[in-house]
Amino acid sequence: MCGIVGAVAERNVSAILLEGLKRLEYRGYDSAGLAIINTGQQLERCRAQGKVAEVERKLLEKPLLGHLGVAHTRWATHGKPSESNAHPHLSSDEIALVHNGIIENHEALKNQLQAAGYLFTSETDTEVIAHLVHQTYQQTQDLTEAVKKTLAQLEGAYALAVIHQQHPNELVCARKGSPLVIGVGLGETFCASDPLALLQVTDRFIYLEEGDLATLTLNEQRIVNQQGEQIKRPILQWEHGNQAAEKGEYRHFMLKETYEQPSVIAATLEGRLADNRVLPHALGAAAMELLPKVKQIQIIACGTSYHAGMVARYWIERLAGLPCQVEVASEYRYRKVVVAENCLFVTLSQSGETADTLAALRFAKNAGYLGSLAICNAPGSSLVRESDLSLITQAGPEIGVASTKAFTTQLTALLLLTLSLRRAHLPDPQAKDVVEAELVEALRSLPRIAEATLKLDTQIEVMAQDFAEKNHALFLGRGSHYPIAMEGALKLKEISYIHAEAYPAGELKHGPLALVDDTMPVIAVAPKDDLVDKLKSNLQEVRARGGELFVFADPDSFLEPEDGMKVIHLPAIHDVLAPIIYTLPLQLLAYHVAVLKGTDVDQPRNLAKSVTVE
Ligand code: G6P
Repeated sequence: MCGIVGAVAERNVSAILLEGLKRLEYRGYDSAGLAIINTGQQLERCRAQGKVAEVERKLLEKPLLGHLGVAHTRWATHGKPSESNAHPHLSSDEIALVHNGIIENHEALKNQLQAAGYLFTSETDTEVIAHLVHQTYQQTQDLTEAVKKTLAQLEGAYALAVIHQQHPNELVCARKGSPLVIGVGLGETFCASDPLALLQVTDRFIYLEEGDLATLTLNEQRIVNQQGEQIKRPILQWEHGNQAAEKGEYRHFMLKETYEQPSVIAATLEGRLADNRVLPHALGAAAMELLPKVKQIQIIACGTSYHAGMVARYWIERLAGLPCQVEVASEYRYRKVVVAENCLFVTLSQSGETADTLAALRFAKNAGYLGSLAICNAPGSSLVRESDLSLITQAGPEIGVASTKAFTTQLTALLLLTLSLRRAHLPDPQAKDVVEAELVEALRSLPRIAEATLKLDTQIEVMAQDFAEKNHALFLGRGSHYPIAMEGALKLKEISYIHAEAYPAGELKHGPLALVDDTMPVIAVAPKDDLVDKLKSNLQEVRARGGELFVFADPDSFLEPEDGMKVIHLPAIHDVLAPIIYTLPLQLLAYHVAVLKGTDVDQPRNLAKSVTVE
């Protein structure tokens, strides 16, 4: 992970770099730093363990001024979080370098550099790159050339930015396996891991492709591709506003993003529904040709996105009648895969930069799939650019590490995909389909029902008090709500650090029941569907063992509060769409428990939002 920013400008760049780092903190936040070529053409650096605010505090005491600089916020891979491991890394006090990714052959390179007399001051894999650039620079006195020759020696993944004090107007950057964009300003140029970092200074971006190397000056962006050819990449206008940077009236981004769900679900549906059907072009013109040929679906994702894929499996098999498999990317990418005939490869990702998901897509491209579709929240991301088709969720930038609105908009998009697949396989794809019409109607009411569900917040906050002292929790669901129970457990463990596990309620008797006693809260999601009576029997099994139950239920489920069982009724919802709505109280529950426990809700320990390393 990690976030990098670089700037070359006529104005002082340190405030721009610092603001960029704050906006990238979601990518890592265990240490940070920046380096600048000052007005006396000397390289100066400021680093600190902890969050970007620590660097900011140091800079208030001793400001750095200059027109060229690089900065970094870190998520530790090699070497613990500490000031000495924080980037930028220097070589001979002439070169400063920031890096996101992992250099797999760093040990061999380090041995060689140590033999050549280089002293290492950190435990990172990154420091070898700084010294290699320095070593190569001695032969060429050309920074771009030195970086290019260095990159040829690296194995692994990187996005990096380098400056040299002999080149006060030149920022060299490159990407392979980790994201990097160039921000084009008026007489100034920037680079960053994510456009978000630069929205305060520009809304024009060049997305670097795999293997690109760029030399940035005030007015120029010279790019060479992996083959070493000079190349022009398009400058794209950012059209998604700059709204994400502020928490507004909310205490945390996670709460703000939870409350945005009614509007972002509506935005994801906008322009994609007709009166009683999903519009044929909802997935783009190319999809209209491809979908009728699809015979199977393979979904690949990580983390929360994987849970969205698991819900989609229930939908696709039930409504489109097509076999669907779902797998986490880190497993899929390393096993021998048998690709079924006419199988559509679908990736789900909020960021579109998750290393395992991207690697799975790259593998799949040559594995004989019918085509690839990315359901993603980042239109310019690698995943979208490298897939045949894309369906963009309109969640807007998500800052809280625990994913909320990205998940429910993914589910919304997946239901659109399901209905499009269903229609493509109807005997008469032009005919009215009552099931689709009913679901489109239900989809239209989804934002309103989500709004009503969020009004239960105060009740959920009270419920959260029962969790603050607990060490474990068990989440139960059945059918398409088993993945929702998994997502609820993930939210709770991510931000409150309470150990939480999810089970399909029917599996209770095969093991987890042994854990149930009066110290183990059991949370269940109980919408009104075919399985609710079976779920009720499972809940009785918990009650009989003295377990304390917390149930989110449909008003018609006949589940009422009783001794040992707290029940919050949710608004009535079509059973197909219920997974989207039943997610909301679980997000709020995890949020309030975390607040009571005093954890860092938006930036929980050891995690990062965008996982661009393996
Ligand atoms: C990280 C984040 C999760 C996210 C997962 C997959 O672990 O903390 O919230 O679900 O990555 O990310 P993606 O961007 O591919 O959805």
